[in-house]
Amino acid sequence: MLAIRLIERKRDGGRIDPGEWRALLGAYIAGHVPDYQMAAFLMAVFFRGLDREETSALTDAMLRSGGTLDLHGIPAPRIDKHSTGGVGDKVSLVLAPLVASMGIVVPMMSGRGLGHTGGTLDKLDAIPGFRSDLSLAAARDQLERIGCALLGQSGEIAPVDRKLYALRDATATVEAIPLIAASIMSKKLAEGLTGLVLDVKRGSGSFLQTLERGLELADVMISLGAARGCPVVALITAMDRPLGRACGNALEMEEAIHALRGEGPADLMEVTYALAAEMLMLGGLANDRGDAKAKLELAIASGQAAEKFQEIIEAQGGNPAVVDDPALLPQAEAIELYRAPRRGLVAQIEPRAVGRGITALGGGRTRMEDSVDPAVGFVITAKPGDWVEAGEAVATVFARDEAGLRAGAAALREAICIADEAEPPLPLISHRVTELGAESYDTE
Ligand code: URA
Repeated sequence: MLAIRLIERKRDGGRIDPGEWRALLGAYIAGHVPDYQMAAFLMAVFFRGLDREETSALTDAMLRSGGTLDLHGIPAPRIDKHSTGGVGDKVSLVLAPLVASMGIVVPMMSGRGLGHTGGTLDKLDAIPGFRSDLSLAAARDQLERIGCALLGQSGEIAPVDRKLYALRDATATVEAIPLIAASIMSKKLAEGLTGLVLDVKRGSGSFLQTLERGLELADVMISLGAARGCPVVALITAMDRPLGRACGNALEMEEAIHALRGEGPADLMEVTYALAAEMLMLGGLANDRGDAKAKLELAIASGQAAEKFQEIIEAQGGNPAVVDDPALLPQAEAIELYRAPRRGLVAQIEPRAVGRGITALGGGRTRMEDSVDPAVGFVITAKPGDWVEAGEAVATVFARDEAGLRAGAAALREAICIADEAEPPLPLISHRVTELGAESYDTE
């Protein structure tokens, strides 16, 4: 039988040919290869790795398992952004309408939160009525009309990735660079893009915690894109603390709306502008970072970015009034300040503990089929390096009830470390990676 031979070969460090990848994935999606054999195969890949050619063949086999978004008739640059995931990462909600309002077509395909990380689709679900389950035909139509669609991975795009991802999640095989690269790039290449910007997170809250592994993932994805005519630029950004202040679906949506109206927290805006600038430069709409930043700031200040968000929400069945009045988003029943237990320096705000806290409040999922409470979460106003006095409010817990408030406070006690000394946090944006290699990112 094919599967057992491939498991044995990979277990012993051998290679899988392109035809074998296609046959294996085809048999898996058709139900002829059971999950237990695919799980054993994935574990063999986890330990033995894949070379670049195998990673490329796997990506193609995954891409060909479904349909693609044919956007070739749309003359504007078609550029997406993808983040490898984190806590408080609501960049997509700000960046997609922002760059779409400037003439880039953004077919943004996102996922749901799982484990400690949040997902853009769950944040969008916080908008009353919003639907992200667009068919490819509906997404194409919307992209032609208004230049942006915020969609989930329908069964039409790389369907084998959905099945494989759930299996990887249940078998501790997510954190393998070739599997992550093929999973992300098979979906992105199905979007018919002319460019892609990657936000590769590093630090304790990310999939790949070290800079070295982040750079390697970026390099693999850049090569996969380049070989298929899709230029890819990656920024390495920090996920050793949450991004922005809000963590939790409706709370993050509210923060994103404030950001689109020019009132976003500095770290969120810095990452959003940096990634958006790369999109504008890839699309030929800005000459350099300075030019891009000035144009982006103008798009926010003029209100055009917020208006574009309203247009997108309306097109996808949601209530666009949330942009003028975020109080229309789901609201938590129980709210309480969390105060610093002692004076000192905020040494750490551990993203995994914050993410697990959101799940404990009912706002995240441990299994894909779990439903989430959009209203719960945290707003953490303190940042690593801040000096705080005992009893000073450093965060707010948003919960369903008293028990939730207690669970939220316990999670924050674990997440927020106050000490006499603190290591400096990671630089917010440390590297820019292109086909030419990695360079350090100067934040002027
Ligand atoms: N995101 C994906 O889409 N796939 C992975 O494997 C990891 C993160």
